[in-house]
Amino acid sequence: MSKGLFFSILFGLLCAEVFAEDISSFKDEISALQSAMGIVLGRLDDRDTQINSLRDDVERLTLFLADQDATISEQNSRIQSLEEIIRSKSDENHTTSDATSREEHAQYSGPSSGSAPARKAAYDNAYNRMRREYVGSPVAFLATLTNHITHAGALQPIVFDRVVSNVGGAYNVHLGSFVAPVSGIYVFSTTLLSYPGHTSHFQFVKNNDFVSRLFLHTSSGQYETVSQTVVLQLNKGDDVTIRNQDPDEAIHGSNYSTFAGFLIWETENIPAIVG
Ligand SMILES: *[C@@H]1O[C@H](CO)[C@@H](O)[C@H](O)[C@H]1NC(C)=O
Ligand SMILES: *[C@@H]1O[C@H](CO)[C@@H](O)[C@H](O)[C@H]1NC(C)=O
Repeated sequence: MSKGLFFSILFGLLCAEVFAEDISSFKDEISALQSAMGIVLGRLDDRDTQINSLRDDVERLTLFLADQDATISEQNSRIQSLEEIIRSKSDENHTTSDATSREEHAQYSGPSSGSAPARKAAYDNAYNRMRREYVGSPVAFLATLTNHITHAGALQPIVFDRVVSNVGGAYNVHLGSFVAPVSGIYVFSTTLLSYPGHTSHFQFVKNNDFVSRLFLHTSSGQYETVSQTVVLQLNKGDDVTIRNQDPDEAIHGSNYSTFAGFLIWETENIPAIVG
């Protein structure tokens, strides 16, 4: 081997040695980079998982809120219908309640604008309109018997001849009968004082049909009184009287015996009665 060739080979070996060292350090760097990349990728994965779970949370919250919205709007409509019920109940109350509570209503629950007298006037107008519309006109009477009846015939009506009140003019003082001006529910009441020494029966009568009986029994010199209240549903034109039952009976007058009645509820021309 020539000296030149020997050195060439030696140089080549040295270079190879250096190159090999370079390569191995390069490999180290690459694997370090790879592991760093691995860590970064792992963290990105974690981020993705976190983001996904946050997204799930947001979705759940959105659903929850939508649910709450539905509940709130359902509750709002329930509140509205309850308010309507309360309003109509309060109207109902005031169609049948007395002037004092009407005044209270005007003072405390009238429209919030305007002075108290103006609100009361507005309320009274509305009340009167409603009353005409739903209850119609008032009907009420009271009549008393001034003279004794000493020889009443069988089934003869008692004519209470002294009219104390006759709002609506439905009591006929000549016949002693009440004639319903409108269909409705009516209350009637009578009080009868006995004629001494008589046992007598009387009747509430509707259109000549017997409704109920009253009984008085007294020895001579004694007095008894009997009283009864009836509630009748009448059609317009029906009549109600008190009549004596047996022949030749008697009843005490002197304003002790009375016949009274009034309409409590009209059952026709009422547009809004439900349930
Ligand atoms: C109706 O009147 C009654 C008795 O006064 C009262 O208890 C009730 O609260 C009233 N209702 C309304 C809705 O005003
Ligand atoms: C009954 O009342 C009328 C009217 O007030 C009266 O004129 C009459 O004297 C009274 N009769 C009796 C006995 O009280």
